[in-house]
Amino acid sequence: MRAVQVTGYGDVDRLKVVDIPTPEPKEHEVLVKVKACAINNTEIWMREGAYGTGSKSGWRPEGVQFPRTPGSDITGEIVQVGTQVDEGLVGKNVVLFPFTSSGKEGTEHISEDMSFIGSEYEGGYAEYVVWPADLCFDMPLSSYSESAVFSVSGLTAWHMNKQIDVKPGETVMVTGANGGVGSLNVQIASKVFGAEVIALIGDLESEERLKELGASHVLSYRSEHLAEEILEVNGGPIDSVLDVVGDALFSTSLQVLKKGGKFCISGSAGGQRTDLDFRTLYLKHITMYGSVLGTRAEFKDMLHAISEGRIMPVIDKKFPLEKAREAQVYFKNKGKLGKVLLLP
Ligand SMILES: NC(=O)c1ccc[n+]([C@@H]2O[C@H](COP(=O)([O-])OP(=O)(O)OC[C@H]3O[C@@H](n4cnc5c(N)ncnc54)[C@H](OP(=O)(O)O)[C@@H]3O)[C@@H](O)[C@H]2O)c1
Repeated sequence: MRAVQVTGYGDVDRLKVVDIPTPEPKEHEVLVKVKACAINNTEIWMREGAYGTGSKSGWRPEGVQFPRTPGSDITGEIVQVGTQVDEGLVGKNVVLFPFTSSGKEGTEHISEDMSFIGSEYEGGYAEYVVWPADLCFDMPLSSYSESAVFSVSGLTAWHMNKQIDVKPGETVMVTGANGGVGSLNVQIASKVFGAEVIALIGDLESEERLKELGASHVLSYRSEHLAEEILEVNGGPIDSVLDVVGDALFSTSLQVLKKGGKFCISGSAGGQRTDLDFRTLYLKHITMYGSVLGTRAEFKDMLHAISEGRIMPVIDKKFPLEKAREAQVYFKNKGKLGKVLLLP
């Protein structure tokens, strides 16, 4: 089969288009013919070695074994099943839950042995992938591309909303709102949990689109008076922040949060280290949440909300599989709106 492999830590030239044997499903696995695979920052960081230092960077402490086929947001058709799997699954269109874990129900995402497709297992930058049958779910929409854009970003966003326990009428500020996670945070906070959303983006050209996704107010993070603008549109301090940007918007976030407010972070696209005056944190009684992915139950709840039309796919651009290098470079561009897809 045709696949794209990462051959070692480094730049995009570490991505190679190769022909390799099609994998065989083990007894509890299925073979999925990949129809679409959305791109996430995680496989770019995997290639760059940005999850740690030197040869040990990856989701697991032992680091990534190369060559490795990246890609976690996968939809496709089951074309073969392992000996212990119901043959009736052949022909079914599925979306893959992106990691394995021995953690019990509700703690899968924080289990020490959590292992990720496209990092510890071969992923979806390929024509075929094998995966445990019980981690393959019905596609929420009829389109392979549209169903592929939620797995990691949507699960992360859903979990963040659950962590801060968003209530109807509360004001939630979403950073990186035009990005993969942010565009889903906007939709989930507003359309699923009923919050008023303030969306932060760079270029206000996407303002109308973000309002369609559920934002009540859209502001540019480039404004010199951002904190004042946030307080003005909300008529005072806000209830919580769903953040993927990190350093660049951290002090603004703490400034506009109300006393007793909540700050939930799952990414640091705008800087991984910051200055924190602890007094702000305790004098404002702010609760901070770190967040990574989510649970299988949350994944199912998200798929249900998608199938009901409460959350929409937002696709920026599609590339053929062979253009994986270009697609990863494009992913890092500023100002894209939603997800980037690879189509084998
Ligand atoms: N913890 C988890 O489970 C998990 C899951 C998925 C993603 N993540 C992380 O979350 C982050 C976002 O992922 P994504 O898939 O949403 O990426 P993305 O689609 O590339 O979106 C990144 C967003 O961050 C914004 N941004 C970047 N630099 C900024 C700055 N200096 N100031 C303000 N905004 C800035 C971008 O705005 P512009 O377009 O204007 O640059 C964009 O809206 C990444 O760090 C990723 O690794 C974590």
